[in-house]
Amino acid sequence: MSLDTTAINRRMAQFDSHASVWLFGYGSLIFKADFPFLERRPAHIEGWTRRFWQGSHDHRGTETAPGRVVTLAPDADAVCHGMAYLVTPEEFAHLDYREKNGYLRLATAIHFEDGSAAEGIVYIATHENAAYLGPASERDIARQIAFARGPSGPNSEYLRELARALRELGKFDPHVFEIERHLAEFHG
Ligand code: SIN
Repeated sequence: MSLDTTAINRRMAQFDSHASVWLFGYGSLIFKADFPFLERRPAHIEGWTRRFWQGSHDHRGTETAPGRVVTLAPDADAVCHGMAYLVTPEEFAHLDYREKNGYLRLATAIHFEDGSAAEGIVYIATHENAAYLGPASERDIARQIAFARGPSGPNSEYLRELARALRELGKFDPHVFEIERHLAEFHG
């Protein structure tokens, strides 16, 4: 099931008057930056862990055969590594549309590798959204990903691109890499 979150996100005006805003990406926003940005820096946020628990009915799956994409689950001790982009507030119209299948903007502290931090935005799909699928074993997630495909392409491509981007960043994510390992059982 899908529910368009675009209108809810548009109401978040917190950063509208700023000349630029930091956006933290932890999924496709790491490997597919289809928007102009002023600067890009590896970064992390705290208190969240990356999980393939969100359904994708519009990009990497369909209404009848949803794929799985990442969202963030709260975890007090966790650190989630990704990529931060400095964008102008106008970019959020495109970003809200791109992340419309359940993701809500959340203001959060974004930490950079030099030890500095900035307040910015991350898109999170909580367990309350209609497209949420929730936990499953890494093997079951891999099986679902192996056979799902949507308008943006095969779900397996999303997983592989994310794993590759995390390796490029030098960040080990056991959940993502375990699913990638299981994918080979279904894809060869
Ligand atoms: C993100 O990348 O930050 C959000 C999830 C996604 O679009 O894959």
